Amino acid sequence: MTSSLPGDRERLAAAAALARGRDHDTLPNPPVGCLLVDAGGEVVGAGFHRGFGLPHAEAEALESAGPRARGATAFVTLEPCAVARPGKRTPPCAPRLLAAGVARVVYSCDDPDGDAGGEGPRLLREAGVAVVRLACPEAEALLPRWRAAASDPLPWTVAKWAMTLDGKIADARGGARWISGEESRARVQEARSRVDAVMVGARTAALDDPDLRPRPAGGPAPRIPLRVVVDGSLRMHPGSRLATTARESPVLVACGGAAPGARRAALEALGVEVAAVPGPGRGVDLPALMALLRARGVRRVLIEGGGELHAAALRAGVVRQAMVFLAPTLLGGRGAPTPVGGAEGLRQAADPLRLEEVRVTSCGPDLLIEGFVPRRAP
Ligand SMILES: NC(=O)c1ccc[n+]([C@@H]2O[C@H](COP(=O)([O-])OP(=O)(O)OC[C@H]3O[C@@H](n4cnc5c(N)ncnc54)[C@H](OP(=O)(O)O)[C@@H]3O)[C@@H](O)[C@H]2O)c1
Repeated sequence: MTSSLPGDRERLAAAAALARGRDHDTLPNPPVGCLLVDAGGEVVGAGFHRGFGLPHAEAEALESAGPRARGATAFVTLEPCAVARPGKRTPPCAPRLLAAGVARVVYSCDDPDGDAGGEGPRLLREAGVAVVRLACPEAEALLPRWRAAASDPLPWTVAKWAMTLDGKIADARGGARWISGEESRARVQEARSRVDAVMVGARTAALDDPDLRPRPAGGPAPRIPLRVVVDGSLRMHPGSRLATTARESPVLVACGGAAPGARRAALEALGVEVAAVPGPGRGVDLPALMALLRARGVRRVLIEGGGELHAAALRAGVVRQAMVFLAPTLLGGRGAPTPVGGAEGLRQAADPLRLEEVRVTSCGPDLLIEGFVPRRAP
């Protein structure tokens, strides 16, 4: 390992600044920043990992530098990855840095990721690139949530809903169309294209008859997530959009132990996969369902309601993050569903479940409020 040079630490801190506050978008991937600096000290490229399923920081920085990456030093907050894994959506970064002709790599944090750890720096060193590992507190500060996620046996699960100012996710008749504005709905389409699975409860499947496949405006065809319905009694209609499109893109329905065999056969005949994941009563064991998804390579899940499923998932401790669109509208109605239902409340008012690292952004006329669910049982 070669030694560091004056200014290296400051450059690493600048790379870390690019990635700060990005873990809402990247988890269970790490937030990573990368700067490319040429021999004269000029920054020729910069990038950060913008979100799960999107290019890594190094790829973004190389893209922005173009041919000026040749002979440059790459400052990366986390060691560049080297291993291409089945299901991984982005090619490994160490070979890309090599191919671009980067002369030196300065990184801060090791990747504890099983057999992948240390492989990138080794590959670069063997190819003649000078590799320096340098402690940088700003880079290390990016990673606590990612480190926790890396040892989590369940997928990174985001509960998403859109609600009115009076806290309704649908009107009193159950209609949820157009709760949020156009920009928010576009954002949801984008979020769907960046997860491995999208999940809804049985009532949402019945009332909204959703398709759940992303439909981004323009751009390349999105990757289609696995569509999952939590349906204890297996009431999903064989004529529903989900059932009738199951042969085009996969649909998994998770049911309880007492789901009628005839309903199962009717759905399976349409190409729907039915998995019995029995929990208490007629319910579905949500941690077991999440473990089943994780075992299939699902790493990020978007739960898109409704309120009963959100409540059950929060209570079961499987939700890691919330993504809430708040529309400046009112609906009223005692019977109109709210985003976290359930017969019993989750907490007392004096001790509510408080989201952490809350990020608030505008989305057209709506607000998007995101935060992490604390890791103690609600
Ligand atoms: N604005 C938004 O963002 C948004 C998003 C989604 C939905 N919505 C609206 O929300 C309403 C539906 O919400 P909802 O709260 O009434 O229903 P829901 O959460 O969609 O579905 C509830 C049903 O899901 C099944 N379920 C949930 N958790 C389960 C578990 N652990 N085990 C087994 N089954 C489980 C149960 O079905 P069984 O009783 O059959 O077992 C339960 O009755 C609709 O009006 C929809 O339009 C709005």
